[in-house]
Amino acid sequence: MRKKIIAGNWKMNKTPSQTVTLITSLASFVEDSAADLVVCPPHTALLFASEVLRGTNIALGAQNMHYAENGAYTGEIAANMLLECGVRYVIIGHSERRQYFAETDETVNQKIKTALSASIIPIVCVGESLDQRTAGTTEEIVTTQIERAFQDIPIESASSIVIAYEPIWAIGTGQTATSAQADEVCAIIRKKIANLYDDETAENIRIQYGGSMNEKNAADLLSQPNIDGGLIGGASLSAEKFAEIAQACPAHV
Ligand code: PGA
Repeated sequence: MRKKIIAGNWKMNKTPSQTVTLITSLASFVEDSAADLVVCPPHTALLFASEVLRGTNIALGAQNMHYAENGAYTGEIAANMLLECGVRYVIIGHSERRQYFAETDETVNQKIKTALSASIIPIVCVGESLDQRTAGTTEEIVTTQIERAFQDIPIESASSIVIAYEPIWAIGTGQTATSAQADEVCAIIRKKIANLYDDETAENIRIQYGGSMNEKNAADLLSQPNIDGGLIGGASLSAEKFAEIAQACPAHV
């Protein structure tokens, strides 16, 4: 049975002091959570966050990193910098990064490899646009993103990766995929992992849903057989809402 994983993607919100306030409040609400919990504040708040997360059951994640170890990449952040800030997870290939910062399936693949070699767990985002869904190409788009993201990733590492299925039309729009729609695509992703690797890897890998998940729709989404957690944007900026989503996770057995 896969343990659920709920991650908060704070995007470009919260200063270091606001981060400390939000985490302090959140930590008191989620002490008995049955899920793995992750918060992903902006880079400037990571070190402050890791201090205040110490001794809690919440892990620290980053929202992005570069694939190179170091070098002349103005404005970028490397894996060892994140590690030293206490980061254990990193979101890779979020649709906003693909859309606004020219991330491609190739850079996503490179970043996954770099994260894995630094022992940082990648949360790899895939998902179709509204046009692609309307055109009936969701399966093709998502399975191609998965195939390219996992290119040359060895089987020993594959099941440690977390996949986030985030339909672009559902992100920040208030328009959530129905639980059936979300589960259907997560099942397609799991089948693709079985094809690329084997049934055991597919059975073990965790697939989150993301896109307007909130405290009201979480229980329904999280009870679907192929949905192993959530990547939460807007609702993760409220300690109460994020905690309610965490509480909606059925205990794993
Ligand atoms: P949202 O964002 O929950 O605000 O839709 C999710 C995400 O972009 O990860």
